[in-house]
Amino acid sequence: MLDFLAPSALLHRRYHTTPTHQSTESQPNPKAPKPKYFLSEKQKEFLDSALRVNQAGELAATLIYTAQTPQVVRSHPHLRPLMKHMYNQEEGHFKTFNQMIAKHRVRPTAMYPVWEAAATFLGWSTGVMGREAAMACTEAVETEIGSHYNEQVREILSWEADAQSRGEELDDELKEMLTTFRRIRDEELEHLDHAVENDSKEAQPYDPLVSVIRLGCRTAIKISERV
Ligand SMILES: [Fe+2]
Ligand SMILES: [Fe+2]
Repeated sequence: MLDFLAPSALLHRRYHTTPTHQSTESQPNPKAPKPKYFLSEKQKEFLDSALRVNQAGELAATLIYTAQTPQVVRSHPHLRPLMKHMYNQEEGHFKTFNQMIAKHRVRPTAMYPVWEAAATFLGWSTGVMGREAAMACTEAVETEIGSHYNEQVREILSWEADAQSRGEELDDELKEMLTTFRRIRDEELEHLDHAVENDSKEAQPYDPLVSVIRLGCRTAIKISERV
C-alpha cells in the first residue's frame, strides 16, 4: 500500500474550517503552506499497479539486453557502446523501481519468473535473428512502454490539476515520482530513436515481429497490473 502518502496527507485535512494560525484579518497569507492533496483509495491502487508494472517491465528490459547484446555485438562490434548505454539505463530504471516498491511496500508481480523467462527468450531470439530484428524488438517494446509511462504521467498531472483547483498541492513524494516517471519515459523514447536510427525498420519480417512483441508487452502490462 502507498501509505507513505497518508501520514503527511492525514495531518492536513482537506478543508481547514477553524485554522488556528489564521489572523482575524481576512487577508490570506500567500506564504502559508498549501494543504496537501489527499489521495483516494482508487488513486493509491493506481500507483500500486503502476509501480508493480514498471518494476516488472524494467526487469524485462535488462534481461532482453543481457540476452541480445553478445549476439548483436559479435557481428556488429560498433554497436557495443550503444547496447551498453541502453542496458545501463535499464539497469538504473530497474534499481529505481526496486527501491520504490520496497519503500512503498508494493507487492512485486507474481508473474516475475514468467516474465524473466519470456524476456530472456525475446532477447535471445531477436538477437539470433540479427541486428535489425534486435532493434525492431527495442522499437516495439519502447513504443508500448513509452506510451505506458505517458499514461502514468498524464494521470498524476490530472491529480495535480485537481489539487490546484482545490487550493491544495501534491505530496512532495508524489511530485518526485512524477519527475522520475518523466525522465524514464524520455530515456525509453531515446532508445526507440536509437533503434530506428539503427535500421529497426529493415527487420524481416518487420510487421509481424513488431506486432507480436507489442501485443506481448500490452498483455504483460495488463496482467502485471493485477497479478
Ligand atoms: Fe527502462
Ligand atoms: Fe528502455
